[in-house]
Amino acid sequence: MSDQGWLADTRTSYDTVAVSYADQVRDALAVEPYLRGSLALFADLVHAAGGGSVADVGYGPGHVTAHLRKLGVDAFGIDLSPAMVDVARRDHPGLRFEVGSMTDLDLADASVAGLLAFWSLIHVPDDAVSRVFGHFRRALRPGGPLLLGVHVGDGSRLKTQGYGGHPMRVYVHRRQPGQVAAWLRDAGFTVEAQMLLDLDESVPGAVLFARRQP
Ligand SMILES: C[S@@+](CC[C@H](N)C(=O)[O-])C[C@H]1O[C@@H](n2cnc3c(N)ncnc32)[C@H](O)[C@@H]1O
Repeated sequence: MSDQGWLADTRTSYDTVAVSYADQVRDALAVEPYLRGSLALFADLVHAAGGGSVADVGYGPGHVTAHLRKLGVDAFGIDLSPAMVDVARRDHPGLRFEVGSMTDLDLADASVAGLLAFWSLIHVPDDAVSRVFGHFRRALRPGGPLLLGVHVGDGSRLKTQGYGGHPMRVYVHRRQPGQVAAWLRDAGFTVEAQMLLDLDESVPGAVLFARRQP
């Protein structure tokens, strides 16, 4: 799997499903109390660290970015998929959404007060995670909080359709939270908390709270 190959496939896949994905998740947070709680805690951590702009990396249709704005967080989005940018701008006019990849994050050093990657790292293979976490650390201010959402489990699956039967070609990587935490520590983060979600579902989730070390 070359870097260009999986990134291009992921971009094309989310371009294809952008509109239907947005329709499916637009109101999802209303019925996700644990995610809302995680985002409220993340907002508190950002405020307690002095506030400032927060990057939502892999924001999809932007509903989480918009929710953070309602919590008083100066959030903006970066996503691989240009079609997702169009959908996010349509659904949330006035918010800032840009195209970019977490594998080559176009943010200045220490320029963001916080960083969120909700179920977007799931599409990055293991051998690219340290590069991504290096970018996250570089872009964050020292002491800045990081919030990750991941699928819990083992192994990788190739998803060939989704969100209403649209064709996709995207790898979905499941991970043990302990592995993600170890990668974070290696990249210069302190791991502060984790919460496991959907424990009775076939694919549980986890959110991890970390902080850039000084
Ligand atoms: C499963 S969706 C999650 C969207 C949103 N964060 C949510 O919680 O609903 C994955 C998103 O990550 C984006 N993505 C995948 N790989 C990415 C990368 N390398 N850099 C930035 N965004 C990426 C996709 O385009 C897609 O919008």
